[in-house]
Formats: sequence, structure tokens, C-alpha cells
Amino acid sequence: MSVIRTDYGKTNGGEEVYLYTLENKNGMSAEIITYGGIVRSLKVKDKNGADTDVVLGRDTLEDYFENDGYIGAFIGRHANRIKGASFVLNGEKFEVGRNEGKNSLHGGICGFDKKVWDATPLDEEEPKLILSGISPDGEEGFPGEVKLSVTYTLTNDNALKIEYYGISDKDTVLNLTNHSYFNLNGYDSGKIDNQRIKINSSFYTPNDEECMPTGEVRRVEGTAFDFRKIKEFGGAINSEDEQVKLFGGIDHNYAISGRGLREAAYAVGDKTGIGMSVYTNQGGMQLYTANGLPEGIYKNGSKCGVHTAFCLETQCFPNSMEHSHFPGAILKKGEEYNHITIYKFDIAE
Ligand code: BGC
Repeated sequence: MSVIRTDYGKTNGGEEVYLYTLENKNGMSAEIITYGGIVRSLKVKDKNGADTDVVLGRDTLEDYFENDGYIGAFIGRHANRIKGASFVLNGEKFEVGRNEGKNSLHGGICGFDKKVWDATPLDEEEPKLILSGISPDGEEGFPGEVKLSVTYTLTNDNALKIEYYGISDKDTVLNLTNHSYFNLNGYDSGKIDNQRIKINSSFYTPNDEECMPTGEVRRVEGTAFDFRKIKEFGGAINSEDEQVKLFGGIDHNYAISGRGLREAAYAVGDKTGIGMSVYTNQGGMQLYTANGLPEGIYKNGSKCGVHTAFCLETQCFPNSMEHSHFPGAILKKGEEYNHITIYKFDIAE
């Protein structure tokens, strides 16, 4: 069990950035950067006991300044999209950072993925890194000063547990997530077509052409979106389904069945046998099959791009301010936001 800090460079504004390496008693490790709370690597054992890094990443801090795709990042104040980059709360209209056409994506122009967070490492039986900070009232147009923390723990049973906490001094919206791109055969192993996934959901939310939920909550039954039984990504992301074709793959929110901390998904790498369960207490999960990930050279010379990874972004439903039947992102003054998501690894049977 260890937590090691290394220098990772400075932002253009001169802020020091550190990379923390956490390792648990089984040799599982994670690298986390104080810039953007980015998970840069996540190494787990494959079926032969070989270390396999299952997340995409970039090399240097400078490479993360233009982090197209939000690879590995902590996302806030509002994960996914807000239509027209505005919403009404308590009768008041708020205009927030507009960074995707007319809309707001992943917190706006300078979201949490571009901020440097204070770090508190805890070298305990289960190593932890707490990142914390304050989002000032009005940041990216969002109301309320929000005190935040994100705690990353590597557990003894081989999970990366992420706990998000927030409290605001005004009514606001808060919808946090992590944007890791997983490839369970290893970050440099190419397309995910033959990897399998099961999702604990019977409903998803179709999108308009701007990738904004229309408000419909549609049954997955009989569609490419049906992952209630484990199946390969390939069949779904290459299907003729009109919603899949619109986005060149899946980029949709699933309504996760049940409440409280429960299993949302289980995915398996066909070559490594690595299985990953995702547990969350959130209502929604965006499955994004890296449809728009720019083709290029990523970490350690790896070639990554379209469909070479998948994201499981546990969160509130996107654009929930417009749809009163969607589980919403409103956080009342003085109330606590507590979000837990666990990525737990095993070897599939
Ligand atoms: C969104 C995608 C977007 C990606 C990277 C995902 O959460 O749903 O539409 O392209 O993030 O920004």
C-alpha cells in the first residue's frame, strides 16, 4: 500500500501540478493528476497475472491542456449537456458556459477538468487521494459557492472507488462524473468490438441530432441498446439502429434499474479476461463508445481513436432541467451531494 507523489509540471498560470500513484496490497495501481482530477492510468492483473493498464491517457501535462474527449477527467459542475447553455432555477434564468454550439457540455468553457485541485494523500491500508477545492459563486455561470471533494480509493478487493462530495451556499445544480475511457484489453489494444458488456437497465433516453435527450424514455427491448444480457459492443455500435447511426455508435444515457448503490454494468475484455463491475448510487449512466475520439497517438505512443474505448459516465440524466420526469441535478442550499461510483475488477469466468 503506497501513495507516491511526483511533479507533473506547471499550468500556464504557474500552478504546480502533481501526479499521485496509488498502489494496493495486490499490486493494483492508479495514477491520478491534480490537474482535472484525471485518472491517467489504472493497472490491474489480467488472467495470466500480467499488469494491464485499462484506461486511455496522454503523456504530459501539456498534452492534457487540450484534452479533447475529456480523457480520464473529473467533470463538473454539470456532466453532459445543458440545452441552450441555460436553465431556470427558482424562477431565475442562469446562462452557463457555452462550449458546444449553442449548448453547454461537461461544465462549460473551463470546467473542473481544467482546474488544479488541492491534494490530500492518505497512505492507509487502502490508499486514498482526496482532491478538494471551491467552485466560486458564478463560476461558468452556475449559482452558489460549492465546496467540493473527490476521493479516490484503491480497495483491497481491487476496486477504484470514487466518492464525490459537494455542498453549496445557494440552490444550484450539481452533476459530477469521471470521464475515463476503458479498454479492458489494455489502452493500446485497438477497437472494443469484441469486448462484452451487460447493463442493468431496461430504458435509455434517445437523443436529437445535437445529442440532447428528447425527453422520451424508450425501452431497450428489441433494439441495439439492449445489454440486459451480456453481449459484444460490435453488434450494437455497427448496427443500423437510427439512434446508433446518428452518432456513429452509442452516446446515450441509460436509466439504471433500482436505487441506492447497485451494479450498473459489467464489462469483459475478450483477450485479457479482465472483468469490470460498475456500481453507483446515480440514476443515469452515459454509455459513450468513443465515437468522436480523434484518431491519433496517445499515451506511450499508443494509437487510439474511434471505438477504441468505452466510457461509463454515472450521473444524473443529461439536460434534466428541461424534463421534469428525469431524475434531476438540483442541489439545494446546504444539502449534501454524495455520489459513489466503484469500478471493481476481477477475472471473468
Ligand atoms: C458525450 C459525448 C462527447 C464526449 C466527449 C460524452 O460524455 O456524451 O457526446 O463527445 O463526452 O466530450
